[in-house]
Amino acid sequence: MPMRASVVVLCASLLINWTNGFSYEGYKLYEIVANDIIEMKYLRELEKQAGLNFLKEAYSLGEPNEVVVAPQYQKEIEKILKSIGLKYKIVVENVEEIMEAERRTFSLRPFMGLGDVTFRSFMFHHEVSMNAYLRRLAGQYPEITKLEHFGTSFEGRDMLLIRVSSGPSSNPDVPKPTIFIDAGIHAREWIAPPAALYIIHQLVENPANAALYQNVDWAIIPCLNPDGYQYTQDEERWWRKTRSVLPNSDCRGTDGNRNFDYYWMHAGASSTPCAETYAGPQAFSEPETVALKDWFFTNNGTVKLYLTFHSFGNLLLYPWGYDRIVPDDVGDLKYLGDLVAEAIYNANKLNSVYMVDTSALGLYEAAGTSADWAKAVGGSALSYTIELPLGSARYAFLNLASEILPIVQETWAGIEVFHSFIEERFWTNLTITTTTPSS
Ligand code: ARG
Ligand code: ZN
Repeated sequence: MPMRASVVVLCASLLINWTNGFSYEGYKLYEIVANDIIEMKYLRELEKQAGLNFLKEAYSLGEPNEVVVAPQYQKEIEKILKSIGLKYKIVVENVEEIMEAERRTFSLRPFMGLGDVTFRSFMFHHEVSMNAYLRRLAGQYPEITKLEHFGTSFEGRDMLLIRVSSGPSSNPDVPKPTIFIDAGIHAREWIAPPAALYIIHQLVENPANAALYQNVDWAIIPCLNPDGYQYTQDEERWWRKTRSVLPNSDCRGTDGNRNFDYYWMHAGASSTPCAETYAGPQAFSEPETVALKDWFFTNNGTVKLYLTFHSFGNLLLYPWGYDRIVPDDVGDLKYLGDLVAEAIYNANKLNSVYMVDTSALGLYEAAGTSADWAKAVGGSALSYTIELPLGSARYAFLNLASEILPIVQETWAGIEVFHSFIEERFWTNLTITTTTPSS
């Protein structure tokens, strides 16, 4: 074989053998439809079992749920579904085929310099990718940025948070409000980290946005579950949880978004280690969630708005998630959420239509989430879970690289609205009252 041809063959086979560990060979994708409330309740219970990986939850009866099932569980699951009377059909006979195609597209990464950012392909977390970008910004813009070591993941990855600020408030009685943003607590939700990275990019690298960090501080961590994220890149694309090793199970990982200590395990969370919504052996069992808690306590009371990016579903969700009840300030939360949704739509990129509701009413009950904790315990007045769009991707979480940019751009339009509200409520109004002489 001529030299050049053999190099091509070698590269191609390296690509195909990208994962020599995990394979989706024989995994099937099921569509399951619940036609009444009782069937829906059964489905929600099944979600807490091992062996079913829910990719898409139906919002309403009659709508399909998408579930991926490993070969060793298929017989049993089908038996259970039949006995309950839940209608299902197999939509993908061999998931590995989808994943092969998917791996081929995401291996097509543009050449990038160290410290660059891109919104045309999905970045890695590690030191020559997202972290390198954050380090480059901190080096290049020392007046307005500061890097913080947020924590160390279970597998030892450095988690970096970047602050963007023009400096401390000149009035010690009125500290600047902070907007805290995280993304990627769920590993497979790849569109989330770019949404956070784009906010960082706009704030720091676009001088037109300098007004946004004058009176409001930003604290942004673009990848809250770096172990899981890396694992989705190398092995199991639909992995959701952390990668911690569990005391009494061969299964790994905890659902970070069920691991916070507010009504922990109250609803919508599993005590089965192999389940996708496993809440952990106890609250705050994961170094990644502990890091978030510690950060909030260290920065006591300064966060006024907490945003956590997830995908997918075009939802702006505010507390509570642990139960179907609304908080006292539901008026503000709904009003602001609606304004943000309108701005995202009007950005005219994907024209995503967001629904605005409480987490439990708009999606499902789930306790131990970061958004509930941030409001109830972390002291953030406002708190939202943002379920970003899937765009025109066919399969759950497999956002198209070509739609990263429009999605993060329209999301940014919403972020500007969040900022205006926070600035007015927690800076302008407060500074006016405190500088007015009292007599
Ligand atoms: N998809 C997210 C999760 O499952 C959404 C959580 C929103 N909260 C809720 N209680 N539904 O973690
Ligand atoms: Zn999520």
